[in-house]
Amino acid sequence: MRSRALVLSAALATLCTAQDPAQFVNPLIGTKYGGHVFSGATLPWGSVKAVADSASNDAQAGYVSDGSPIHGISSLHDDGTGGGYSLGNFPFLPLTSTECAGNDLTKCPVVRTSRAIDHGDPTASPGYFSIPLNNGVTAEVTVTQHTALYRFTYQASADQMLLLLEVTGDLGQSFQGSGKVSVAPNPTTKGTRITGSGDFIPSFGQSKYSVYFCADTSDVFTQGKYYESLQFTDLNQTAFEKDILLSPAGVLMGFSPGTAHTLEVRMGISWTSAEKACAYAEQEIPDLSAFDAIHTAARAKWNSILGTVEIDATGVSTDTQQLFWTSLYRTYISPTNITGDNPLWTSSEPYWDSFYCIWDTFRVIHPLYAITAPTAQAEIIRALIDVYRNTGWLPDCRMSLDKGFIQGGSNADSLLADSYVKGISAGIDWQTGFEAMLKDAHEEGDWQVQGRGGIASRDKYGYVPVGDYADDPPSAADHTRSASRLLEYAYNDFGIALVAQGLNSPGNASHFFNKSADWFNLWNGNTSHANFTGFIQPRNADGSWFLDPRFDEGGVFRPDHCSPVYGHLDCFLGGGGEFYEASSWEYSWFVPHDMASLVQAMGGADTFSARLDKFFAAGFHDMGDEPGFLPTYLYNYIGQPAKTVDRVDSVLAQYYNTSLNGLPGNDDSGAMGAYAVWSQLGFFPVGGQDTYLLNRPYFPKITIHNDATGAVATIIASGLSDTNKYIQSATLDGQPYTKNWISHQFFSKGGTLTLTMGSSKSSSWGTKDADLPMSLSTKGFGCDDCKSPTPVRGPTTIASNSTDDDGGSGGGSGGSSGGGSGRNSGTRSRGHGSLTTLPSLIALSLVLLSFAL
Ligand SMILES: *[C@@H]1O[C@H](CO)[C@@H](O)[C@H](O)[C@H]1NC(C)=O
Ligand SMILES: *[C@@H]1O[C@H](CO)[C@@H](O)[C@H](O)[C@H]1NC(C)=O
Ligand SMILES: *[C@@H]1O[C@H](CO)[C@@H](O)[C@H](O)[C@H]1NC(C)=O
Ligand SMILES: *[C@@H]1O[C@H](CO)[C@@H](O)[C@H](O)[C@H]1NC(C)=O
Ligand SMILES: *[C@@H]1O[C@H](CO)[C@@H](O)[C@H](O)[C@H]1NC(C)=O
Ligand SMILES: *[C@@H]1O[C@H](CO)[C@@H](O)[C@H](O)[C@H]1NC(C)=O
Ligand SMILES: *[C@@H]1O[C@H](CO)[C@@H](O)[C@H](O)[C@H]1NC(C)=O
Ligand SMILES: *[C@@H]1O[C@H](CO)[C@@H](O)[C@H](O)[C@H]1NC(C)=O
Repeated sequence: MRSRALVLSAALATLCTAQDPAQFVNPLIGTKYGGHVFSGATLPWGSVKAVADSASNDAQAGYVSDGSPIHGISSLHDDGTGGGYSLGNFPFLPLTSTECAGNDLTKCPVVRTSRAIDHGDPTASPGYFSIPLNNGVTAEVTVTQHTALYRFTYQASADQMLLLLEVTGDLGQSFQGSGKVSVAPNPTTKGTRITGSGDFIPSFGQSKYSVYFCADTSDVFTQGKYYESLQFTDLNQTAFEKDILLSPAGVLMGFSPGTAHTLEVRMGISWTSAEKACAYAEQEIPDLSAFDAIHTAARAKWNSILGTVEIDATGVSTDTQQLFWTSLYRTYISPTNITGDNPLWTSSEPYWDSFYCIWDTFRVIHPLYAITAPTAQAEIIRALIDVYRNTGWLPDCRMSLDKGFIQGGSNADSLLADSYVKGISAGIDWQTGFEAMLKDAHEEGDWQVQGRGGIASRDKYGYVPVGDYADDPPSAADHTRSASRLLEYAYNDFGIALVAQGLNSPGNASHFFNKSADWFNLWNGNTSHANFTGFIQPRNADGSWFLDPRFDEGGVFRPDHCSPVYGHLDCFLGGGGEFYEASSWEYSWFVPHDMASLVQAMGGADTFSARLDKFFAAGFHDMGDEPGFLPTYLYNYIGQPAKTVDRVDSVLAQYYNTSLNGLPGNDDSGAMGAYAVWSQLGFFPVGGQDTYLLNRPYFPKITIHNDATGAVATIIASGLSDTNKYIQSATLDGQPYTKNWISHQFFSKGGTLTLTMGSSKSSSWGTKDADLPMSLSTKGFGCDDCKSPTPVRGPTTIASNSTDDDGGSGGGSGGSSGGGSGRNSGTRSRGHGSLTTLPSLIALSLVLLSFAL
């Protein structure tokens, strides 16, 4: 195993030097119009992420391509986030005699709004960022894992090189009145050493965090000032130490230029202590003049991780290659590996941070690591389980050592399930992982930041009712996201069942498979919109359907609310209603574990297909948010994979390109980009289960190396061209393969999938019942006794062809629309360990089986 891995990495190294995929990466894509992409210098999962900070409302990740001036260049950022400004601590700003009135440091503009400087176009590539400022200074930065190395080049005419370091600065201006700074000579580097720390507030979470730095300049300053709240104090050459109470505070230094007019500054960062920040800096970059060597090493690291995927780009445009490699590159920026630098607890387990947030990343990022970086994914799983061990809960969002806000379900359950079913195991204590998942399911958490809410209510009613606040007392502005959370809980429970199955816990498997059918308790088969019937609708505790007086005008439920065409911006955290960041139109597709039942509930394959078409055509689909990903692939579930090809093609063409705004929304830690990666590879993961839906590749040949098993998976698209984009037939390792999905064994064991491409939509390949992806109700996922759900009460359309009219089935009779009668089948509460569904449905399941198999 070990020697195999070594051979593999040696082979990869050769190959990557040859291929240099980094040449196709443009980190600036997505830095305009809300992509919030981090475009600076970092390593794969690097702790340090350095880039210039724009004075822009869109500066969540630092630099924005909107022409805004630059108020700093700093060493910590997050990528693609949608919350507040993240990190950006301890910014530098190179200044000149022009801004500082003839090199008088007390005249330098220290306040952020007055110090911002215009600039020319930046240059960015993996491990490198540079920007020419209009004051004549060019700022460059490259990185190692915990250290940034800056090189400031001043104009030859400069008689002093001035530099500001704001110790209390961060993008969100969140300094908490507690910081430190010290300045002293560093004999080793023959320069000045500044160390310090500050307390700040996380951008999408609770509490506060402390972070530490250790900066070394390549020269000793010739003049220096400490400033705090606009009071200036002289810095002498010997020593200076100060506790900082007020903001802004920092140091200003002037250096005499040598012949090169460059000033190098090494910035070590630690979450533990300033001493550790210095130690990292000294180990990783002993020589401040080694900028070019550090840059070369950083690029080599990127080529090595990018090179786990090889593509044959024959006949493929440079644009397509740039989109692919840049998107893949961004999937490795977050989370950050800060193993060994966790101040919160002592552990031999890895520690990873900047999960921002798992709601965004469980669908596409972690499944990608499962095939391209399983070794890292195993460390991530271990880190998440260790967060559970030490904080009591798995996180959903977690950044800068703090608990982040939860958007939906306890999606770490699905993240863990995804890795579990894919056999990712290195060093993972799955028993404890399972225990953590069970806790999510059984114990009421503070669902703003950990665990779930509405557990007791869900046990009682089979769904989370509107207004169920549990630990979170209601206020007028408080809304519960009850519908979207329930859908996610149901899917999270399915993940728990998969793990239970694998750990030989059949009682738990059966219980959670059953719970996963709860989605159907919010299925209102009597709601119509835009000529389609049956929608997920929030529900009151008394069983009546909920209407939100703010959005559901005239007493009619609006399944398009929160979609791009109606109330799009109503549904963010704290602002919305019962759905989070997507409409009922979109959430009504979210039953990834039992699509066969959903197809039935929607009225059969033809209606399902027409409904998907309508969803996209009418603008209900929102590609700018993660729930919009999977619907583009759902035609596979009704045996129409060629329609998936068309749909994905048009989504990529409409929303993705290589311009600076070439993203449909916030990149969300690379999730938006990951959609493009998967789609160009030709398959898409149903995150949280072992299913990859086949689309079609955009490259004639793709090879994926598994760094954990050494396996090689090769996909060949024979005859591929812009017009030959439909799969006509396929073989897997030489045997005919007609399923329109594949499972993870292809990547963990290796193999060759050969697709024969053609210009017409094949009526045979991937179209038959036996070719459809797994669903619980059609005996998928190894559950032989799983059935389609029936509601606790209320209407349904699922049994529309059934003669069984027990349990409120039968075309919605007895239902109520618009918060009407409710209670039509009584307040049947489910006994312990039972579910939504049980009592009936054998006749029904026969109907379903005959349809879906
Ligand atoms: C330098 O500054 C420190 C702190 O303000 C002070 O203790 C020390 O005496 C100063 N040394 C000289 C040589 O001025
Ligand atoms: C994460 O960091 C630790 C400590 O530096 C290191 O041993 C480990 O290899 C890193 N993991 C990955 C996937 O790079
Ligand atoms: C579920 O798993 C837990 C932990 O292994 C175990 O204690 C419990 O008895 C199981 N429940 C059932 C119903 O099997
Ligand atoms: C619903 O169907 C009718 C009749 O075919 C059509 O006129 C109308 O435009 C459709 N409504 C929508 C929203 O598509
Ligand atoms: C219901 O039955 C009819 C007639 O048997 C059939 O044509 C139709 O496709 C069925 N609908 C569903 C949703 O299965
Ligand atoms: C690139 O994509 C963005 C975002 O989807 C879009 O607004 C823009 O018009 C596209 N640009 C080009 C040149 O296609
Ligand atoms: C639900 O759980 C019971 C055991 O409690 C099991 O017998 C049954 O098959 C399950 N039903 C479904 C629909 O999974
Ligand atoms: C849906 O509910 C409305 C109002 O309660 C009722 O008039 C209508 O008949 C119902 N439709 C079906 C298909 O049950």
